[in-house]
This record gives sequence, structure tokens and C-alpha cells, in this order.
Amino acid sequence: MVPGFVRHALRHLLPKATGDRLREFVIARYYAPGMVLRIGVVEYWWGRVWRNRPRLHRLVVHVTDHCNLDCKGCSHFSNIAEPAFADPEQLDREFARLAELMEITEIYLLGGEPLLHPRVAEFARSARRHFPRSKIILLTNGILLPRMGPEFWRALGESRITLMYDDYPIRLQTDLIRERAAEHDVGVELMEHDNEFLKVPIDLEGSQDGADSFARCRTVMNCPTLRDGRLYPCAYIAYIDLFTKRFGIEGLEATDLDSISIFEAGDPYRIMAFLLKPVPWCCHCDFDSAEHYAWGRSACTIDEWTVPPHGGVAPSREASNARG
Ligand SMILES: C[S@@+](CC[C@H](N)C(=O)[O-])C[C@H]1O[C@@H](n2cnc3c(N)ncnc32)[C@H](O)[C@@H]1O
Repeated sequence: MVPGFVRHALRHLLPKATGDRLREFVIARYYAPGMVLRIGVVEYWWGRVWRNRPRLHRLVVHVTDHCNLDCKGCSHFSNIAEPAFADPEQLDREFARLAELMEITEIYLLGGEPLLHPRVAEFARSARRHFPRSKIILLTNGILLPRMGPEFWRALGESRITLMYDDYPIRLQTDLIRERAAEHDVGVELMEHDNEFLKVPIDLEGSQDGADSFARCRTVMNCPTLRDGRLYPCAYIAYIDLFTKRFGIEGLEATDLDSISIFEAGDPYRIMAFLLKPVPWCCHCDFDSAEHYAWGRSACTIDEWTVPPHGGVAPSREASNARG
């Protein structure tokens, strides 16, 4: 971990763009070797030859799409999502299928805000039933934690779920939260943002080099996301319909080529291979214009995800078609 005073000094000394590039490099090199695979090439191919189940590093799952906190530029579009609740029975079937196909090191139950789901405890129990050896994390903004009842805490404790909450600059009853967690033997972790969020602008015209975007995304947004029985490379693509619907944009939708069905793909190594490669939609991520900004409340305007002057202008049909 780079000490805080070094980070702060560099932030002041270096031009912003250089600082952002340096940070991207340090994170890629030392902190985040990708969210899909974290085993060596030899181990991967050995497993493939012997038909062992592959090991996915991280999986992200929405419990709700909407949230009770409007973070500016949310990368899951939760601040502009209509209320939407995952179906516990459906997700249970999807977890069962995934468990047949692969091992998963870390599973994040999030959203949206997962605590808005009245049956949130069931997701925790279901994930643990199917993945007895995974680290399972419930990621929340923490606002509703003091109001959660005994079944919630029991489910987290009995299912060995890690409770993670963000260090947003909002008032949280952290002493009470930690007390309740300790009573039920629930491990607690903090998601540290240092008051910073990341904007990777969406290029509405799709004029970016998708392979380059994907390579740079590996340490940033690339995080296998399960939605309705399909795996997407990231939440941006999985939930882009929330963005297009809100702003009335055409031609930006994800197609079947941007995700893979966990029920139709018989060979789990096909799924892993899919997740390790760029998808057509990657041409919409503009990493050259990516920037960090101070966490804040959303005004729900399109420029939270786009770069002017394109913000608000729908792409032409030709540009959409050129995307392939
Ligand atoms: C979409 S939130 C959902 C879970 C929960 N509502 C919360 O706030 O933690 C999941 C994670 O994504 C992070 N996140 C969302 N948009 C982001 C952005 N633009 N930059 C950095 N982190 C972001 C959140 O801070 C949180 O840690």
C-alpha cells in the first residue's frame, strides 16, 4: 500500500493526467491482476486438459438495481435505475448452475442497494449453499444497517458472509453497526474510496479501440457481472439499458455478443475464454478521457457518464451500425 502522505504529495506535485496514468500503472502492476483469472497459465491449461472446473476470481450480482443514495456517476447506474428487485428463486437456480461450472473465489452481493430488498437474507443463504468455499461479500452503503432485523444478522453470521460498507462522507452509525456485527459473529470490512470516484466516459459513437479499452479496463471496471443468466464483462455493459432508457439513447444497447449464457455454454472454459477477451461494446469506453473526481451527490445528468460535447447527443444510426 502506498502511504497516504505519498499519494497526497504526488497528487499535488504531478499534473492530473500524469497522476491518473501513474496510478493506473501502479494499480495494474501491483494491486489488481484482473478479476477473471488469478492463476498462472500453466495451472489454467493443466485444469483445462484434465477438465477441472476453472476458478473465476470475482463475480458481481445485483440484489436490487436501485439505490437509496445518489452517487454521482455510479458505474452501476443505480442512481438512475427504476426500482428493480432480483428474484431469489431465479438467482438460486443461477448460482446452482454456476456452481456446476466453476469455482468462484469472491462473490459480491450488491446493487443498487442490497438492503432495500426485503428478502436480502435469502440471497446470502443461497450464495453460501452453492459456494461453500467462496468468500461472499455483501456490499452496502450502510445506511439501512441499523434498521436490519435479527434474521438478516443471523443469515450473515450463519452463512459466513463478510459485510462490507463504503467510506462515503456520509453519517453512518458505525459503532452500532460494528456492535451488531460482532454480536452475530459477522466479519466487517471497509470499502475505501478516499473520497474519490472514477469516471470512464461512455463514447456514444463507439469510436474507441475496444481491445485497448479492454486492456486498460482490466484493473478498473472489468468485473464479471451476472444478470438474468448471462455473464457480462462489467456492470457498465450489463446495466447499460438503465442508462439508455433514462436518457432516451438509441444504438448503445448491449447485444448477445456482449455477454454469455451460463445455461447454454456447456464448457466452462468457453465462458472463461469469453471473459478474457474484449466484447464489441468495449468500443464505448473512453479511457483516454477517464478521470478521478471527488465523490458527490448526483444531479442525474448525462454528463456524469459522458464527455461534452457529445453529452446528450444520440449517436447516428451509421455509427451504431459500424459498431457491428
Ligand atoms: C454500485 S455500488 C452498490 C452497492 C452499495 N449501494 C454501495 O454503495 O456500496 C458498488 C460499488 O461500486 C462503487 N462505485 C460505483 N460507482 C463508482 C464510480 N464511478 N467510481 C468508483 N466506484 C464506484 C461503489 O462505491 C461501491 O463500492
